[in-house]
Order: sequence, then structure tokens, then C-alpha cells
Amino acid sequence: MNIPHIPVLYNETLEAFKDINDGYIIDCTTGFAGHSSGLLNQNENINLICNDQDDEALAFSKKRLESFSSRVIFNKGNFEHVIETFKDYDIKGILADIGVSSLQLDKQDRGFGFESDTLDMRMNQNQSLDAATVVNTYSQGELERIFKDYGEVREYKKVASIIVNNRPFNSSKELAEFLSKKMSKGKLHPATLPFQAIRIEVNDELGVLERLFDSLEKAKFKNCIVAIISFHSLEDRIVKNYFKKWSKSCICPEGVFRCECGNNHALGKIITKKPIIPTAQEIKQNPRSRSSKLRIFKFE
Ligand SMILES: C[S@@+](CC[C@H](N)C(=O)[O-])C[C@H]1O[C@@H](n2cnc3c(N)ncnc32)[C@H](O)[C@@H]1O
Repeated sequence: MNIPHIPVLYNETLEAFKDINDGYIIDCTTGFAGHSSGLLNQNENINLICNDQDDEALAFSKKRLESFSSRVIFNKGNFEHVIETFKDYDIKGILADIGVSSLQLDKQDRGFGFESDTLDMRMNQNQSLDAATVVNTYSQGELERIFKDYGEVREYKKVASIIVNNRPFNSSKELAEFLSKKMSKGKLHPATLPFQAIRIEVNDELGVLERLFDSLEKAKFKNCIVAIISFHSLEDRIVKNYFKKWSKSCICPEGVFRCECGNNHALGKIITKKPIIPTAQEIKQNPRSRSSKLRIFKFE
């Protein structure tokens, strides 16, 4: 079987779940089942809920995990809904490896890569908003907002203005070549951050992550490990802030003279004070791992 994606921080992620001996683990982003198959092998007594919103990824994983079929439930959907769907199960672990898979990046017709001949970027092929709609119909102001907020593009005004004045664009390749000609070159390809911004907008990546955390907060699972791998600072900030909020025992407003909340509001504890990052060796073997960060929390 030719596996189109190398799982990042593989050993570190499996280590986070190693003490779970029963119940269910939810892999919110099964992808090509790298982490999923590792968990099924390592944690012999657990069942796994394999979620993803990408049809191609799920079809591949169903085949890859065939020998574990009695222990696996597949679920197609956005991870913002997966906790609600399985809230009555005995959930002992949650994994989310958020971002794009290598297959999504490499396949010409998905529109994520600079060589793609479509302008798509949808992880869920059934949704209507795609990159062509964003690039060819958003107002200049809306484009400025996404380039600034989601791409942290320094020249966000210029990028928005040259796109608006030269559209329509019909493929990611055309857009990437255009930005490469018009924008100054730095360490990154000039299309890297604008593409990141468009992808985040198309898939509402920050919104769904926040809603996943809100659903976890509501579900109040006991004795449950949450491990999140993120790939850029905006996502990592969301993960860090939720974990910090969940670990706070006192929720009195800042500056109160004496605690009046009972000082017993912590939902659990942060396991990783600092995020776990890939070793130099992993980055060498799999350069796409370079920006990954793993944070772990335990609901108690
Ligand atoms: C980095 S890959 C996961 C790779 C996987 N851990 C493995 O080892 O093969 C990310 C996957 O998450 C999926 N994904 C991203 N955001 C999602 C969301 N909001 N809901 C469901 N799936 C999502 C993508 O479709 C993709 O397949």
C-alpha cells in the first residue's frame, strides 16, 4: 500500500495516549490513518472513532485499517460536530492533527499546491465555498482582512489590490505564478502566506477549531487525554489559550481582593508546559513537519 502522508510527531503522539487501556479514542483528523493505525497497534484494548471530512482520506483509511475493523467506527464530518455525536461514549482520548494532508497538497485537482490546476482548497468536497469564490468575488477589504489576520502577510494591502485588479484567476498555479512575479521574494515563496490565508478562510479553520474546543469544554469527559498538533501560530495560540483556561482553578475577575469562586474550577491539567516540536532528524526526513507543535491536556 502506497501511503501518501507521513504522520508528524508520531512517537510523541502515541506516547501521550500510551496509558489508555479501555474506552474510545477519537481521531478527529484521521487522514491516511498513520496515527490511527499506531494507536490501534499500541493500545490493544481501545476502540477508535476515525473522523475526517475528506472522502478520499476516509476511503483510504477504511482499507488501511481493514484488519482492525471490529474496533473502528468511521465518521465523515467536520470535527466541530464529532464530540456532540459521540458524547455518550466512554471517551478516553482525543487526537486532532489539524491541517492539510500531503495528498491534499500534492494532488493537482485539490487546488492546495502552487502547481494545482484548479482553485479549490476545500477539504470537504461537498461544501460550496471554494478558493475561486474567495479570490474572484471577495471585496478588496475582505481580502485585506484575510491576508492580514490569517496569513500575517506584511504587504496585505498590496496583495489584495493586485489580485482585485487582475482577476479572475482560474487555477492555484496561475495565482502562485502571478504573486511570484509581482511580490518581492523572501525566504518563503511569495504565495505561501496568501495561500495559507485563503485556505483558512475556505475551510474556516480557526472557527472550527474554537468550536471543537467549546464542544470539549461542554462534554466534560473524565480522565481523558487531549492531544492537538497544529501547524501555524494562529492555531497554536487557540490551543494554548483553551488549555490555560481549562487549567485555571480560580475564575474570579482579575484584580479581586479575595477569591470568591471556590477555587475549584480546573477541568484538568496541562501536560506539556511548552509545545513538543519535531527533532532536527524528523524535519530532515519530513520537511513538512517543521512547523508542527503538539500540546497535551488531561481532563480529570
Ligand atoms: C495532517 S492530516 C492528518 C494526517 C493523519 N494524522 C495521518 O497520520 O495520516 C489532516 C487531516 O485532517 C482533515 N481535517 C482538517 N480539518 C478538518 C476538520 N475541520 N474536520 C474534519 N477533518 C479535518 C483533513 O481532511 C486531513 O485529512
